[in-house]
Parts: sequence; C-alpha cells; structure tokens
Amino acid sequence: MKTIVTTSPNTAAAFIKCGGLVAFPTETVYGLGANVFDALAVGKIFTAKMRPADNPLIAHIAHREEMFQLASETTPAAEKLADAFFPGPLTIVVKRSAQVPDIATAGLDTIGIRMPREPIAYEFLNACETPVVAPSANLSGRPSPTTWEAVLEDLDGRIDCILQGTATKIGLESTVVDCTGDVPVLLRLGAISLEDLRGVISDTRLSGGSEEDAARSPGLRHKHYSPKARVQIISAEDEIDDPRGVFIGLRTPHFETAFKLILPDMEAYAHSLFEFFRECDRRGIANIYCESVDETGIGAALMDRLRRAAQG
Ligand code: TXA
Ligand code: MG
Repeated sequence: MKTIVTTSPNTAAAFIKCGGLVAFPTETVYGLGANVFDALAVGKIFTAKMRPADNPLIAHIAHREEMFQLASETTPAAEKLADAFFPGPLTIVVKRSAQVPDIATAGLDTIGIRMPREPIAYEFLNACETPVVAPSANLSGRPSPTTWEAVLEDLDGRIDCILQGTATKIGLESTVVDCTGDVPVLLRLGAISLEDLRGVISDTRLSGGSEEDAARSPGLRHKHYSPKARVQIISAEDEIDDPRGVFIGLRTPHFETAFKLILPDMEAYAHSLFEFFRECDRRGIANIYCESVDETGIGAALMDRLRRAAQG
C-alpha cells in the first residue's frame, strides 16, 4: 500500500469515507483514524499498529452532538467535564451506544470520547462527517508520534494517508477519565491534571491498584512508551554508569554524557520526550537518563510516562 502525505484535511477525510486509515495531528499526539461505524476499517487499525485486540480505541468528534451517536447515556459528571474541557486533551469514558461496533471498544460496554482542540484536527473530523476512532499512530509498544515524520517511520506502507501538520503542542496523550460511576475515576494522567478535574468535580479520584480499577483501563496493562534503550529516572545530582548515555531534564547535570537536552520547563520536557526517545533509537543509544520532576500539573503525567518507559 502506498501511504499518501497531504496537508489537505479534505483529501485526508476522503480516505476515511471510503474505509481507509488516516493518521492526523491533534494537540496531544498524532492519531491513526478510521470511521467508528465501519467495523472493517476499525479492524485495519489493529493490523496496521500490531495492536492487541483487547485494547479499546478513543472516538474523536468535531461537534458535541456527536456524543449522542456514540453514547447510550451520559452522566452529569460527563456533561460537566465536557463543558469544562471540550475541546481539549481530555477523553471521557461513558456507556456506549449499540451502533458502535464491538471491535472499536474491544468488547467493552463503554467508549472513550474526545474532542481535540487542534484546528487542523477539527477541520479533518468535520470533513469526515462521522466520529473517528484513533489510537496513537505508532506501532504498538513504541513511543507515541509527535511529528508526521515519526508516523511515517512506523507506519509507511501500512496506512492510506498521513495528514501533515506541525509537531504536536502537548506531546503526551490525553487524560482519560471514567464517568460511568458515582464519582469520576482518572484512568490515565495527561495535560489535564487531577487538580484540574477536581476544580470541576471535587470528588474525582485517581484509579488505584484494585482489580476493579484495572478492569476499567485495559490499555494500561500493555507495554507502552518504550524506546529500545534502557531508561533510568534520576536526579541531576546522581551518578551515572554510562558516559556514552544521554540526558534529558530541566537542570544541567554535573556528569558527562554524549548529549544533554535541557528544557526550560515541564511543558517543554513533556513536549520533547517522545521525539527524544525516538531520536535515541535512531542513533542506537543504549542508556537514557531522565531527570525526575515534581508531580504537579503536567509533571504527574510526565512521571507516569517516564516510569512506564523505565519498566520497558
Ligand atoms: O491523546 C490521545 O488520547 C491520543 C490522540 C490520538 O487522541 N490517543 C491515544 O489513544 O492515546 P491510545 O489508543 O494510544 O490510548 C487510549 C487509551 C488506552 O489506555 C485505552 O485503554 C484507554 O484509552 N481507553 C479507551 N477506551 C476506553 C474505555 N472504554 N474504557 C477505559 N479506557 C479506555
Ligand atoms: Mg497509544
């Protein structure tokens, strides 16, 4: 299959309309989209990414009304969070409607819904005239792509089209919050923090280690965000064992490394992390030293991704 690269949202949407796969930019990471109501097209996402079939997909919408095509019922919590954070980097999990094919939600009776804020994502989704399911546009297990070139690196020849945009602004995947129960449960940390959610619904809780919580978030069981290199989380005062390794963080460390990427703040660190991991793989780096950060604001999501990468 030849993968077409285009800057036209309409050209990209035409592929969705005939059952194809399109990678497109959002403010978080690039997604790999298919028409949610076309089970055959949705199935192709799992093949192209080599994604385990038990990992559900997020449906992306351009317009708030489209929630009603996807959800059988919403809850006051879901409505409040959508009021506060749509469009933006938040995925809201609600009970799904019967029209949504099983394959899109990995057989779950719920569906994650997100309305991206990135203008080109809006133009694309609007032109598709249907909600679009989209996981991150990487091969399963690799870091999520934050540039169209990273999508091409993983999926060239495996998908129909890439909608070319700039590097994604946030660089980490959306916050996922389950709104099906009495209180919202934060399943995946992202740019919208637990504090942000509590500002709207004060009893929102973080998913714990219980079996019930694990069952709610099947995706978190899988290996994620891993470069080939060994990732270690350190503080800038620590000693390291490989001077040919590389460093990413906020403060200049005292030790020598082959390369250091020093970022001005946590937002810039989050924005750069996945592309840094990919660049390390391209250069065959063996050890990546990542400075730990305070778990406030986007720092909590950043530490979550660093820990997953370090588990590699
Ligand atoms: O920022 C993002 O969310 C990006 C862009 C493309 O929108 N998408 C993304 O998709 O990160 P993906 O498939 O890589 O991650 C989706 C996460 C997984 O952890 C999955 O388990 C969870 O969302 N998820 C999706 N639907 C769910 C549901 N019905 N219940 C619980 N978790 C769900
Ligand atoms: Mg992903």
